[in-house]
Amino acid sequence: MILTVPGSEAAAARLQARLDAEAGAAFVRHFPDGEVYVRIDSPVAGREVVLVGGLERPADKILPLLFLAATARDLGARRVGLVAPYLSFMRQDSRFHPGEGITSTYFARLVSGAVDWLVTVDPHLHRWASLDEIYRIPARAVAAAPAIAGWVRAHVAQPFLIGPDAESEQWVAAVAAQVDAPYVVLEKTRRGDRDVSVSEPDLSRYQGHTPVLLDDIISTGRTMVETLHQLRCKVAREPLCVGVHAVFAGGAHDDLLAAGAARVVTCNTIEHPSNRICVTDVLADAVRAEVAP
Ligand code: R5P
Repeated sequence: MILTVPGSEAAAARLQARLDAEAGAAFVRHFPDGEVYVRIDSPVAGREVVLVGGLERPADKILPLLFLAATARDLGARRVGLVAPYLSFMRQDSRFHPGEGITSTYFARLVSGAVDWLVTVDPHLHRWASLDEIYRIPARAVAAAPAIAGWVRAHVAQPFLIGPDAESEQWVAAVAAQVDAPYVVLEKTRRGDRDVSVSEPDLSRYQGHTPVLLDDIISTGRTMVETLHQLRCKVAREPLCVGVHAVFAGGAHDDLLAAGAARVVTCNTIEHPSNRICVTDVLADAVRAEVAP
């Protein structure tokens, strides 16, 4: 039975249709004082319950999610799993400055205590090699690379992939291999949330190619904008930006277009008009593997 965490209605509907699963009825609202009310109207006793809840802008979503999971368990669900197409806090994977919290770990503890398993798409695994290092429950990370490669193959003539930083190499290398295209990975320096610089790429051998910038998360967009600036006047074909997760803080999407992106394309892990790449099938496969191993 699929239960929707508010904000993830579209993702839940897609997954429910793909799995041919029952859509359960859950109701969440805020009391006038801001506290959260939850109610599950469908009988969940003995059932495998799958909560669908993307965790972008997590502060608004985590309490409804935790309370729905607790209610489902309380009402006798056999197991409660979570499909979070975007998993937040993964970038806080170190104490970068004295006194900081390593919130990826704390968030993992919170979620691990609330649900029995987790499925997500390309979490930001950088200093953590796998979700198992911080999640205490079975946690599957499904890859968007095959779907991205399919889109690039169908829409881009002579692609040349560009990863803006070392972390992006895992996605860029995978997609490049699948579309049989060359790639480079740049070096990024981040001095603040919106203060980023990237190294200058050597594009001399790829003049006839279409630059495709690829990253897992586009948040403020500064990483992609600075990479686009590095391409200015150096490439014959207009660059495309491809992101797995369309976080798009503030006006990031428009900033990319203003910086010279011919097009911005993302996967449907976070709802946005730029979603062109569908990862519902891989999510559905991962859920099937969890509930019917
Ligand atoms: C971090 O290394 C990630 O892979 C992305 O590069 C980063 O989150 C992008 O953030 P922003 O869009 O704010 O530059």
